[in-house]
Amino acid sequence: MSWVILAGWIGLASAQQIGNLSAEIHPSLQWSRCAADKSCQQIGGEITLDANWRWLHQVEGYKSCYSGNTWDETVCNSETNCTTTCALEGAGSEYRQVYGIKTDSSSISLQLKTNIDFSYNIGSRLYLMESKTRYQTFTLLNNELAYDVDLSTVECGINAALKFVAMDVDGGQAKYPTNKAGAEYGTGYCDATCSRAQRFVGGRANMFAWIPSEHDPFAGEGPYGACCPEFAVWNSNAHSYSMSTHACVNDHYYICQGRDECDFYSGAMRYFNCDLWGCNYNPYRLGAKDFYGRGKKVDTSRKFTVVTRFSETQVAQFFIQDSKRIDLPSSPTSGLVTQDGLTAEICKKMPVVFDERDAFAEIGGWEKHKKLLSQPMVLSMSITDDHYYYNTWLDSQFPLQDAGIHKGVDRGDCYWEDSNPVAVEARYGNAKVVWSNIRFGPIGSTVDI
Ligand SMILES: *[C@@H]1O[C@H](CO)[C@@H](O)[C@H](O)[C@H]1NC(C)=O
Ligand SMILES: *[C@@H]1O[C@H](CO)[C@@H](O)[C@H](O)[C@H]1NC(C)=O
Repeated sequence: MSWVILAGWIGLASAQQIGNLSAEIHPSLQWSRCAADKSCQQIGGEITLDANWRWLHQVEGYKSCYSGNTWDETVCNSETNCTTTCALEGAGSEYRQVYGIKTDSSSISLQLKTNIDFSYNIGSRLYLMESKTRYQTFTLLNNELAYDVDLSTVECGINAALKFVAMDVDGGQAKYPTNKAGAEYGTGYCDATCSRAQRFVGGRANMFAWIPSEHDPFAGEGPYGACCPEFAVWNSNAHSYSMSTHACVNDHYYICQGRDECDFYSGAMRYFNCDLWGCNYNPYRLGAKDFYGRGKKVDTSRKFTVVTRFSETQVAQFFIQDSKRIDLPSSPTSGLVTQDGLTAEICKKMPVVFDERDAFAEIGGWEKHKKLLSQPMVLSMSITDDHYYYNTWLDSQFPLQDAGIHKGVDRGDCYWEDSNPVAVEARYGNAKVVWSNIRFGPIGSTVDI
C-alpha cells in the first residue's frame, strides 16, 4: 500500500530511473588494442548487461513494473507514469548467479539458461564499456578484429552473436533526458531489426498497448522500435555461422513507430528502415557445406580464432585453428565466388542467384555499408534462442516455404522443429559461448600468421 503512495510522490521528481537496491558492478574484461607494428596494449575494459534483462521495479520499492512478459498496470499505468516510477536495478553478483555471465581477465562466457530459485533466466546481451558510463566504440574501416571462440556446446536453435551496433555512447542519456540510467545500465539498444521488444525506447517506457508475446514468456512488443545500422561479425553456433552488414536509412539511433514503420513485413508495402537480413555471408548457404561444423574444416568442437578485416573493398575473414590459417572456401554455388568474404560484387549477385529482394541496394549499397564501417559503433555480445524463427535463418532452412524452390534456403544442418525454444532450453540449457582475447587494430596488426 505505502509503495503506491511513494511511487506517486517520487514520480514528480524525474524519469527512467536507477534502482537503489543493489549496486551496479560491471565485470571487468580485458581486450587488446594493437598497432601497425603488431604491438598490442592491454585495455582494462568492463561490460554491462542490456537494460531489457534487468529487474525493472517501482522506485524505492520491490514491486515489479514488468514481470514475465507484461507491464503491471497496478504499478504504473501510462507511458509517463512508467517512465517516472520504474527503476532499472543494478547487478553485481547477479551477473554470474542470475544471468550466467562470467569473466576471467580476457575471457567471457555466456550461458543460455540459469536457474534461480523458482525461476530462471534465458540468455543475455552485453556491451563493452570504455568507462563506467560510456560504451566503448570501434570504427571498423581499415581495421581488423580478432577473437578466440569456443562454442562447442552451442547447439541448433541457439545464437551466440558478436556484433557492432550504432548505439549512442551514453545510451541516449543526453539526447533523451528522461533516461537517467544511461550506458551504465545498458540502455539504448538498437539494431537493424528496429526491434519493438525494448521496454524503453528513447528514454520512455514502451508500454502503451504492449502486446505480450504468445510464445516468449519474457518478451513482448510495444509501439516503438529502436533502429540503427549494425555489422554482425558473428551470428553462430556449432553448426552454422554468418557474417552480415545491415545499413539503415539513418546512420544513428532513431525511433520508429508501429508495425507499419518498424516491421519489415507490413502488408504489401513492406516498408522498411533497415536492411534486416543484410548482405550476408554463410558458407553453408553458399554451398560449402563441409567448411564449418563439428569435425569439419573449421572444427567447432574445439576453440578457434576468427579474424575479420574491414577494407574499402572487402570484409575478409579467416580462421586459425591448431596454429594453421584456414581461408574461406570457394563456393560451388554458380555465379558466387566467396573466398573474398563480403564484396560489392557478392552483395549484388546474391539477391539475383537467391531470387530475393535486394534490400542492400535499396538502402544504398556498398557506399552505405562503407559509411557504417566509418562511424564509431558499440560492441555487443549475446546468447539467445529464437521464439519467432527458431533460428532457421542461421542454421536450418529459411524461408522454409521456399525450400526446393530457390537456392539459398539451406543455411545449416539443423532441423527447425527441434529448435523450438522450449525444447532447446530443456535440452541445451547449459550451452555456453566463451569469447576470449579480443584484439582490435589496423589491418594486419592482431595476428601473426
Ligand atoms: C538513489 O540514491 C541516490 C543516492 O542516494 C539518490 O540520489 C537517488 O535519487 C536515488 N534514486 C532513487 C530512484 O531513489
Ligand atoms: C501511476 O500508476 C499507478 C498504478 O496504476 C497509480 O496508482 C498512480 O496514481 C499513477 N501515478 C501517476 C503520477 O499518475
